[in-house]
Amino acid sequence: MCGIIGITGRPDAVDGIVAGLTRLEYRGYDSAGIVTNDGRDLRVVKRAGKLQQLVKALEAQPLATSTGIGHTRWATHGEPTDRNAHPHVDPSGRVAVVHNGIIENYQALKAELGDARFASETDTEVTAHLVARELDRQPEDARDLLAAVRAVVARLQGAYSLCFVALDAPDEIVVAKHEAPLIVAHADGVGYCASDVAALIAHTREVAALLDGQFARIAPDGVEVVDVHGEPVEPHRYEVDWDLAAAEKQGFPHFMLKEIHEQPQAIADTLRDRLTVPPNGGGPRLYLDELRIDEHELGSIDKVFILACGTSLHAGMVGKLAIEHWAGIPVDVEVASEFRYRDPIVDPHTLVIAISQSGETIDTIAGASYARDQRAPVIALVNVVGSTLAREADGVLYTHAGPEVAVASTKAFTTQLIGCLLLGLFLGQVRGRLFASEAEDILARLQSVPEAVQQVLELDAQIAALAERYHDVDYTMFIGRHTGLPIAYEGALKLKEISYLHAEAFPAGEMKHGPIALIEQGSLVVALAPAGRVFGKMVSNIQEVRARGAAVLAIGTEGSTAELKAHADDVLTLPEPPHELAGPVLSVVPLQLFSYHVATLRGEDVDQPRNLAKTVTVE
Ligand code: M6R
Repeated sequence: MCGIIGITGRPDAVDGIVAGLTRLEYRGYDSAGIVTNDGRDLRVVKRAGKLQQLVKALEAQPLATSTGIGHTRWATHGEPTDRNAHPHVDPSGRVAVVHNGIIENYQALKAELGDARFASETDTEVTAHLVARELDRQPEDARDLLAAVRAVVARLQGAYSLCFVALDAPDEIVVAKHEAPLIVAHADGVGYCASDVAALIAHTREVAALLDGQFARIAPDGVEVVDVHGEPVEPHRYEVDWDLAAAEKQGFPHFMLKEIHEQPQAIADTLRDRLTVPPNGGGPRLYLDELRIDEHELGSIDKVFILACGTSLHAGMVGKLAIEHWAGIPVDVEVASEFRYRDPIVDPHTLVIAISQSGETIDTIAGASYARDQRAPVIALVNVVGSTLAREADGVLYTHAGPEVAVASTKAFTTQLIGCLLLGLFLGQVRGRLFASEAEDILARLQSVPEAVQQVLELDAQIAALAERYHDVDYTMFIGRHTGLPIAYEGALKLKEISYLHAEAFPAGEMKHGPIALIEQGSLVVALAPAGRVFGKMVSNIQEVRARGAAVLAIGTEGSTAELKAHADDVLTLPEPPHELAGPVLSVVPLQLFSYHVATLRGEDVDQPRNLAKTVTVE
């Protein structure tokens, strides 16, 4: 939720921290702050509001040293005010901290400090007090910030990545990780840490992800990683496979629009090189990036759970259709935050597929880890290489979509859809329901999807005109059936999260069981109505809402629009997909563009919608 960055060993550390915060702002943007450490003073500048407020404050009050840490916040404890913004400093001014996560036992820890004066309402500040107290307890000539942080962290409950600086250790940054991401790096005599590689990509592509329970001392001469006992350990090292340009807007007014337009390339990258010839002979077979599960084990799976949140959950709904269709295994799609709090029947014959763009969503990680505790194999469908979910799963299918910065997920979604199709084909192949040649044939047909998505993008002017017509409606309902239903959910989520219009989605067949009561003059119904098995039913549902005063915008395909034009107010014609299960990849694109145009017409901040953050690392 929050973004953290630390730099030590560069005279322009402050500039590097501000540049890094710019790339992390998507993680939280209600306040931002920075602290520098020159060994004499910890100097803090922090402001409520977007990062720009901090930048202005730094212009008026410049900071310069070679060591500092910065933070961009998504508030949990305490309103987004200057005083609750991070960093937080202990009362003596010797230790400062920035934090991503929640310290659940902070009240008990605060109580232990008696009448200590707290400057904020946050759960975080107490950790600075406690580390300062630990340093005081150490011999004056042998103060060790890492040891002090380890002692304090041993007492914390919750999820956190924490980053400390102290006057006692002027060139050092000490970090701790538990259930919130933290990357460390060292390049050219400079030490770095950050919540996400995006903040470091300008400096290095060689990074290491800390694992839970690991700590690091970051200094200009290197990074030392230790475990809870202080024993040296190896973090997870990897090389980032994209560059700085991918994390910039490249001339687009918003990241969201850029990412929408990147979809043809991203989908092509997801599909690339998915066939391999087995070493023991036979024809080409589909494969995943990293599969640490025996294929025979997958052959004995009798049930699949798909766990995800938000947009990724909607991709999972298409995954259900694909797996049931090609592999013939029953699939439940679960809101990840609910999964482990009920009593799901999970055993070694259950396959769990966890879908996440970031690979850091705490609910999805927790659900997957619950499943692993029950000895169920877990496959992660993830975008961010080296993320927690990717590391912890038994198998990984990367979507290779490149960095997604806008809070509203677009290219991550369409590549997840492709990933779901690949998983369906893969499981069909493993279980002998599909011959490898059939999977190969379907895969060959899917290669036309990027071109078809490009054709949909070319409808942009028509979609912008529809947004102009409908951007002031009172209420929008999205309806669909079969492959159209997940896209109805996704269309409603996109519209509400960036335009703040009231938008909901329903299975079209459910309308007359209640939701149709909401329809009145002034409502807009967006109907997903491709040619195919449920088209006739969709036409009936469109007539029902139109008869009750709604304007209908129908998303059809070449085979359905002639008839749709007789029933809907507006019709968008999409190319026919190469397979009905690939239809969602095309039909979501006009809804992404529609939401984008509606939000910009309404003057909303498309890339940083209110109350949201890109990566949700708190429960
Ligand atoms: O990184 P994840 O895919 O796990 O994130 C899940 C959701 O938080 C995310 O899809 C969210 O719903 C997006 N803002 C939707 O655009």
